[in-house]
Amino acid sequence: MEEKNIDTEGSEEIRKVIPTEKVILTGDRPTGKLHIGHYVGSLKRRVELQNSGEYDKIFIMIADAQALTDNADNPEKVRQNIIEVALDYLSCGLDPKKTTLFIQSMVPELTELTFYYMNLVTVSRLQRNPTVKAEIQMRNFETSIPVGFFTYPISQASDITAFQATTVPVGEDQLPMIEQTKEIVRRFNSIYAPTLVEPDSLLPENQACMRLPGIDGKAKMSKSLGNCIYLSDTAEELKTKIMSMFTDPTHIKITDPGHLEGNTVFTYLDAFCRKEHFAKYLPEYQDLDELKTHYTRGGLGDIKVKKFLYAVMQEELEPIRQRRKEYEQDIPAVFRILQEGSQTAQKRAAKTLAQVRAAMKINYFDDLDLIEEQAKKYSRIE
Ligand code: TRP
Repeated sequence: MEEKNIDTEGSEEIRKVIPTEKVILTGDRPTGKLHIGHYVGSLKRRVELQNSGEYDKIFIMIADAQALTDNADNPEKVRQNIIEVALDYLSCGLDPKKTTLFIQSMVPELTELTFYYMNLVTVSRLQRNPTVKAEIQMRNFETSIPVGFFTYPISQASDITAFQATTVPVGEDQLPMIEQTKEIVRRFNSIYAPTLVEPDSLLPENQACMRLPGIDGKAKMSKSLGNCIYLSDTAEELKTKIMSMFTDPTHIKITDPGHLEGNTVFTYLDAFCRKEHFAKYLPEYQDLDELKTHYTRGGLGDIKVKKFLYAVMQEELEPIRQRRKEYEQDIPAVFRILQEGSQTAQKRAAKTLAQVRAAMKINYFDDLDLIEEQAKKYSRIE
């Protein structure tokens, strides 16, 4: 298969599906509790989008099948983390009345779509996916890449297109998946019939939110590095973590000039702090710019900035913690939310799958033309 077949402009224009609804689909792999990187990078935005009233449908998926692509030998980890992610979703303010929360593997239509889409993607195209490449390195998969893992971008295209999603709010690392999805959509629509909606990604607006570093200043918050602040951390845990946060190793005495680049406390303030926080917790300063100027000039100690950051984060995280506690009181109810959500999602995906089968003309028993045509062919022979 030639790569250049993938997007033949022109024909693609005509075959574009104009969506009639604004639909969001996104999700997370349940391999651990969600941390504040997830929160500022996506969860917070999802709640805002949910409450904006601008979207007709919102689907948020716990991507257990995708999690299994690199945890095949550890289904228990995935199983245990379903509830963690669900609690994190609900406690951040995702509301099952407005948003369909569901589990990926409970929607088997997604795997069927994946199987058909696999024929529209080349091995070399998958090999070029930068996110998959990085993950292969990280997991030392080089010599033994599981096929399921290698093809997860195709499965992700199924997740998105099954709901005819117009908008996929994600972090930067997911952009290659959206690109891959668009290619599959164009290819499908041009080979078969205009059927699938081409999605757009929606990135975090704030640069600091795009990739929140770990508390040790390392570029990424990750469970294995032990540098995360979790949404489920207590106030005490939050305080201890902030107080041990990486700042500026050259800022030894308070009077020393401080540096902002790579200074985790300031990156977090960029992500969390608003002007109102100053009047409330640090009235000597007007805003973050003034605080930064003082820090760079010298004469402002880390502890003071850290205490301010704690106050700011505490204000945001405490209501989340409280809501989490409430949901923790009734875990069976949380599973019921997921079950109902999965049923809703399954119905929606089944509708798309029927359209996909019809476009591919593999809906044999509904295809009266085919039956008639074959009957005629055989009656002629006789
Ligand atoms: N790949 C995403 C992650 O690593 C999870 C995911 C699966 C997803 N399917 C998706 C995200 C579809 C957006 C759209 O967390």
